[in-house]
Amino acid sequence: MSFQTPTVRKLSAGCGAEVLGVDLRKPSNSDMEIIRDAYRDYGVIFFRDQQLTPEDHIAFARRWGEIDINKFFPANGEYPEIAEVGKEKEKKTNIGGGWHRDLSYDPSPAMGSILVARVLPKEGGDTLFSNMYAAYEALSDGLKETLSSLKAVHSNAMAFGAAGFYKNSDQSAGFKGENLIGQAVHPVIITHPLSGRKALYVNPAFTTHFEGWTPLESRPLLDFLYAHAVRPEFTCRFQWREGSVAFWDNRATWHYAANDYHGSRRLLHRITIGGVPLG
Ligand code: SIN
Repeated sequence: MSFQTPTVRKLSAGCGAEVLGVDLRKPSNSDMEIIRDAYRDYGVIFFRDQQLTPEDHIAFARRWGEIDINKFFPANGEYPEIAEVGKEKEKKTNIGGGWHRDLSYDPSPAMGSILVARVLPKEGGDTLFSNMYAAYEALSDGLKETLSSLKAVHSNAMAFGAAGFYKNSDQSAGFKGENLIGQAVHPVIITHPLSGRKALYVNPAFTTHFEGWTPLESRPLLDFLYAHAVRPEFTCRFQWREGSVAFWDNRATWHYAANDYHGSRRLLHRITIGGVPLG
């Protein structure tokens, strides 16, 4: 039973909302309805003052769908469902330190991820989000029409392959699966399976090129879309505190983990929920 009826408060005009007054260890059916509506409407939602054990985290994630066990990230030894998003104090590279959406290289890309704060630096380590409905809606009618007939190729090689970013960073020891490289093709503009709204679906970490175009031909238009997609009015910034939880929709948002806390440790637990093919 939760404390009270949850309330939903926008975090910024263009992106995200906080859901206040809910205990994620035991949300009632009506709490779940409010959370589900907020998730659909805002693309990323945040909770404060939670006390989730790893088991509670897994149980809450299972209420949304099947857990997608990460092939690449350092796993939590005890709970394979939980990927560890961590940076030790002597490391320079963080995980997720560039704009991306999770797992867009899969044929049925992940629905969303639930991130729980475990160890936080005294300052820094915020996560930024950008709203891909707003990014789509702000494009001109001409560009919307051009993009509507395009598909793009997404690959995990740049991030997780043997020659990829993490294997060649000081995080390499924790990463695995460099031989599990794969790719998928998705529309550049998707119709979101929950909301029915159109959203921009390329991203800098995993999109390599437009289908039928060379990577070189694709670069200028992708670069324009990447710069456009993170215009400040589409974004919000979440400051973590003990007990904070973020739950984002990978189809509707991008995110970026700020790497501004060198010399301190940060550890979050992430569970990713499986998704559906996108059209
Ligand atoms: C991620 O990209 O999943 C990590 C986000 C964060 O650590 O803030």
